[in-house]
Amino acid sequence: MSLTPETPGPATSPPQEALFLRGEGDAWFRRNVASLGEEGRVAGDPLISRALALAGAETVVVDVGSSNGWRAAAIQTARGGRAIAVDPSMEAIDDGTVRYPRVDFLRGVAHDLPLASESADLVIVSFVLHWLDRSRLLAAVAELDRVLRDGGHLLLSDFLPDAPTRVRYHHRPEVDVWTYKQDYAQPFLASGLYAEIERVVIDHRTGQPADRALDPRERGFISVLHKDLQGRYTAGTAG
Ligand SMILES: C[S@@+](CC[C@H](N)C(=O)[O-])C[C@H]1O[C@@H](n2cnc3c(N)ncnc32)[C@H](O)[C@@H]1O
Repeated sequence: MSLTPETPGPATSPPQEALFLRGEGDAWFRRNVASLGEEGRVAGDPLISRALALAGAETVVVDVGSSNGWRAAAIQTARGGRAIAVDPSMEAIDDGTVRYPRVDFLRGVAHDLPLASESADLVIVSFVLHWLDRSRLLAAVAELDRVLRDGGHLLLSDFLPDAPTRVRYHHRPEVDVWTYKQDYAQPFLASGLYAEIERVVIDHRTGQPADRALDPRERGFISVLHKDLQGRYTAGTAG
């Protein structure tokens, strides 16, 4: 279900997904556009600094749920390479297309990425998975894995409560829509195909590293995952 600019989301979307595809992505962009891409924010962004440590001039970086692509643009400006920003919000994409003409913008969703298999060296997914309808979560995990090449890196960031927690989406209290906060590195780690090479606890209000003792409602994480399809198996005997 890769979205085109003409299709604001199929009528078959689950209600939660329909809400986010048909307006909340735009609304988030409008609420935050003033600060996205600010010089200080870019310079202090721990996801960008980690991406820059991994990216080179040939790296293909894909930011899924990119909003206006501010992070992809910052990485491309510093390192070169190709930057691809994927988001369902047409307002964010229209803004990013003007602001960051070297970034390739694609309208799409995490559970059905408009990208070829193994086409990315580095995939970033920051504060997106907690918005997904639960029926889409494992499809999104599979899609992120599909587009990332073997040997590539996945940079994941989201909330980190003590246990999986659902919270009413406070911007739209009149509708029955939730956000789902949990450690989204776990499905990748459980596959045995990814190793976590770094984990940082952050304060989601600032995006900055924080103490683990932080209020769990405000706590977030960054996980740097390395994909290695063969490397974590030990050789066994035949059978
Ligand atoms: C909380 S914002 C985070 C934006 C950006 N990643 C950041 O960290 O600044 C969530 C973003 O995910 C996008 N989004 C919503 N539903 C999505 C989906 N199903 N697949 C991919 N992105 C989605 C929204 O349009 C929005 O831009």
